[in-house]
Amino acid sequence: MQKKDLVAIKDWNEEEIKHLFRTAARIKEYQKAGVEYHPLKGKSLGMLFSKASTRTRVSFEVGMFQLGGYPLYLDIKANLQVARGESIEDTAVVLSRYLDGIMIRTYAHNDVEKLAEFSTAPVINGLTDLLHPCQVLTDIFTFVEHRGDPKGATVAYIGDGNNMAHSWLYGAARTGMNLNIASPSGYEVDANVLKEAKQIAENNNCTLNIMNDPKAAVKDVDVVYTDVWASMGEEEEHAERVNKFKDFQLNRDLLDLADKDALVMHCLPAHRGEEITDDVMDDPKYSVVFDEAENRMHLQKGILYLLMK
Ligand code: CP
Ligand code: NVA
Repeated sequence: MQKKDLVAIKDWNEEEIKHLFRTAARIKEYQKAGVEYHPLKGKSLGMLFSKASTRTRVSFEVGMFQLGGYPLYLDIKANLQVARGESIEDTAVVLSRYLDGIMIRTYAHNDVEKLAEFSTAPVINGLTDLLHPCQVLTDIFTFVEHRGDPKGATVAYIGDGNNMAHSWLYGAARTGMNLNIASPSGYEVDANVLKEAKQIAENNNCTLNIMNDPKAAVKDVDVVYTDVWASMGEEEEHAERVNKFKDFQLNRDLLDLADKDALVMHCLPAHRGEEITDDVMDDPKYSVVFDEAENRMHLQKGILYLLMK
C-alpha cells in the first residue's frame, strides 16, 4: 500500500478529513472511558524539532505512547547530522529504515516536502514557516464538537498572514467553511496559497475573503481566531510588529461584533495583552482555546492511527 503523508491540508480531500474526525472522536472516547488501545504496538515515530514546542511535542509523544507505540524525540540542531550538512534526502532514506513514521517541525516548508518525497515512512508536518496543518485540523474538529457541521459556518482570522492563516485557507476550503482574513497592510497571506485555496473553495461553495479591516472581518461570524503577531523565527521584528498590529487585537469590542454564540480560538502560545486580551481568552462563554490544545492530542492520535497502522 502506498504511504500517505500529512504535509498540507490541501493534500487530503473532504472525505478523508471527515474520516479522520470520526477516527479521532472514537479514539478520544476510548481515552475518556479509560480503555487502553494499542493499535501501534511495536511501531516507532521519530519527532524531529528545530523550533520550540509545548503542545506539539507533548501531544505527539504522549499520544504515541497511548497508542502503544514508541515516540523518539530528536532535536535537529543538537542530535542530527542533517544540521551538519547531511542531505535531507539521505536522512529521509535512513530514518525510513528505522521508523514507521516521522513528525517534523522546522523552518523551510520545502524541507518537509523533500523529506516526504524521499521517506518511505509517512511524514507529518508539525509546523513550518508556511503551514501548520495539525493545528487547523484540530481547530475544525473542535468546532465540530461544539457546533456540529462546519459547512457554511464563517471564521474570521485576525492578524498575521502566517502559517496559521495559510492552513486556515486550506482547511476552510476543504471543509466548506467561509473565511475572512484581516491582516495589516504588508502582512497579508501568501498569494500562491490563496490562489490554490480559492480554487478548492470554488468547488466547495465557500468563500475566502482577504481584507485589512478586522471589524468588517468579524461581523456576525461563528469563530473568531487569532495568533501571535511575531512567529517563531521573527522575534527580532517583535517591536515593529506590535506597532503595526495594534488595531488587530482580539478584545471585547471586536468580539462584540461577532455572532452572539461565536467561538474564540487561538492555537497558543498566546501573548496575552497583545493579540488577545485576558478577558476574551478566559471568557467561559466564548473561549475554547484549551479544548483546542487538548484536542491536538486526540486529533493527532487519529492521524497516527490512519497513517501508521
Ligand atoms: N499550537 C502549537 O503548535 O503549540 P506548540 O508550539 O507549543 O507546539
Ligand atoms: N504562528 C506561530 C504558531 C505557533 C503554534 C508560530 O509559527 O510561531
